[in-house]
Amino acid sequence: MRKIAIVNNKGGVAKTTNTMNIGAGLARMGKRVLLIDFDIQGNLTTFLGVKDIGTSTIDIMNEKAKIEDAIIHTNINCDLLPTPAPINEDEPKLSDLNRTLLAVTGHQHILLEAIEPIENNYDYILIDCQPDVKTALSENAFVACNEVFISIMPEYAPAVGASQLIGVIQTAQKRLNRNLKITGVVFSKVKGTNLSKSMKEMTISAFGDIVFKSTIGDYVDVATAPGYAMSIFDYNPNSIPAAQYKALCDEIIAQEASNG
Ligand SMILES: Nc1ncnc2c1ncn2[C@@H]1O[C@H](COP(=O)(O)OP(=O)(O)O)[C@@H](O)[C@H]1O
Ligand SMILES: [Mg+2]
Repeated sequence: MRKIAIVNNKGGVAKTTNTMNIGAGLARMGKRVLLIDFDIQGNLTTFLGVKDIGTSTIDIMNEKAKIEDAIIHTNINCDLLPTPAPINEDEPKLSDLNRTLLAVTGHQHILLEAIEPIENNYDYILIDCQPDVKTALSENAFVACNEVFISIMPEYAPAVGASQLIGVIQTAQKRLNRNLKITGVVFSKVKGTNLSKSMKEMTISAFGDIVFKSTIGDYVDVATAPGYAMSIFDYNPNSIPAAQYKALCDEIIAQEASNG
């Protein structure tokens, strides 16, 4: 059973898109997958077309409900712990937790505690994190997971964000979870430009062999599919990005063999 936080300090670097399509790809390969929408915007829940949310991540983090009562099944064949999009000002928001959790003793362990009773129902638990790694919610993700995938775009600003991110993850390893490891760097929205190529080379020299060989190109189908609550595999199964996500999932599964 692998628990993977998908992170970057930046928004717009395909964290949510990767979480959805990696989850869908793994599920198509017979893996049992739970996705956790841990971004305060609730984009993953929206991408999956889930409306009418009852019990959510907010209730779990407030310790007001059991995770079994919040998990729903989605049309990409993954389970989901949903987060409502923060639309109405008067409704509770996941972002409130970043403030209120600070008053709770051992708050960094709440997500871990919630997951523990159900984690063996899954082969993969993927957590789509918010684009700020120094929050109470992100700390919960670092405690609940044993792996981190960094989602990155081969452009200057996201690449700089990733280098700051490593420092935060190293501190989390030291103080919060000794078992936490960065085990993957996923490149998305890769263009055929020279900037794209040189940023990719720089990242490989910084991270070494944890950079996945399979990268995801910049394709409008990838951006369009969530509008139909579909993964790329359902939206355009014969497309290049579907093959790229499939190759990425093959690499992720192959890590199991090499990591034992
Ligand atoms: N491979 C891709 N090709 C084209 N557009 C993409 C690709 N991956 C993601 N996008 C688009 O880029 C934007 C940011 O992606 P998103 O997954 O929401 O990033 P994050 O979760 O890091 O903020 C979205 O509009 C998404 O549809
Ligand atoms: Mg997102």
